[in-house]
Amino acid sequence: MFKVAVIGSSGLLGRAIVGELAQQRDWQFVQTAFSRSSPQSVRLDIRDAQAVTQFVDRECPDAIVIAAAERRPDVCEHDPALARALNVDAVRAIASAAQRHGAWVLSISTDYVFDGKQPPYRHDSAPSPLNAYGWSKLDGERALAESTDLGCVLRLPLLFGPITDWRESAVTSLVPAIAASARTAPEAKAAVMDAWAIRYPTYTPDVSVVVRQLLERHARGESVCGTVQWSGDEPMTKHEIARRLASALQIDAQLTPQHTPADATPRPHDCHLDSARLEALGIGRRTPFDTAIQEVLAQFPWRG
Ligand SMILES: NC(=O)c1ccc[n+]([C@@H]2O[C@H](COP(=O)([O-])OP(=O)(O)OC[C@H]3O[C@@H](n4cnc5c(N)ncnc54)[C@H](OP(=O)(O)O)[C@@H]3O)[C@@H](O)[C@H]2O)c1
Repeated sequence: MFKVAVIGSSGLLGRAIVGELAQQRDWQFVQTAFSRSSPQSVRLDIRDAQAVTQFVDRECPDAIVIAAAERRPDVCEHDPALARALNVDAVRAIASAAQRHGAWVLSISTDYVFDGKQPPYRHDSAPSPLNAYGWSKLDGERALAESTDLGCVLRLPLLFGPITDWRESAVTSLVPAIAASARTAPEAKAAVMDAWAIRYPTYTPDVSVVVRQLLERHARGESVCGTVQWSGDEPMTKHEIARRLASALQIDAQLTPQHTPADATPRPHDCHLDSARLEALGIGRRTPFDTAIQEVLAQFPWRG
């Protein structure tokens, strides 16, 4: 039976991928987590190369999806050693073990490998990261390519989807400030929202469909290797995202646009990812943002 290992199944994207794979009756999957391991998952610290090798040798998967990472740009900026351990060295260890078993590896990367100055970016456009997170993910892409010829990088932009905590996604993390800005809130305070960087919020259940379709291709001997990209197609600043969230939450919010970059960590202006390579393969699904955000809020209501 076709067997998939999902590394990092407890995260925002990993949970959505596992949810999609659980619907494949004729597939087997094994999932790993770290601080949030559960009876359904194997506890695996991907910084431990020996433990990684033992896991892959024991499970012998046909395919491995790497959704574990350090994805917070500010953390990567302040702790580059952690960023390297998770985003580069661990990818190398997993891919090297997979190569020995002939397993296909899908490693998740980011639009932050680009500098955001000349969008849209094709899968073969020259990367040029602006921050430590982007560099670590680009080095992770290179580590994958150096370690196996059965590897595929899937670059993604800003993600949102079903959450367990508002802070899990840069989309939903705006909700507490939006609620605090409500004209009806006691001591209501306008929320300043970035109106400079263009983002393409992408729904994790849609990404999971992309991942499942890529796995299906590998299962039937048509493995996609190299680099592919997937992106939502609705450009938005965080100010626009906040406006849509406020509307979905029926909050009369006071949102002040900030038209210049305000982050301490340098971030790209517009990294629109061209998804043409996957679209040409008939892969992908895009749920409209407003529909997707309603689904997220229905599963995790704001009780402010
Ligand atoms: N979120 C975004 O907006 C975004 C945008 C573009 C690309 N991406 C990429 O998408 C991928 C998934 O991101 P995400 O948002 O789902 O991240 P996330 O929610 O922060 O999840 C991170 C995952 O990594 C695991 N992990 C952390 N340290 C670990 C360790 N030492 N050993 C093993 N596992 C460890 C976590 O496990 P525990 O929680 O159990 O510790 C969790 O499952 C990443 O490659 C990220 O770079 C994300």
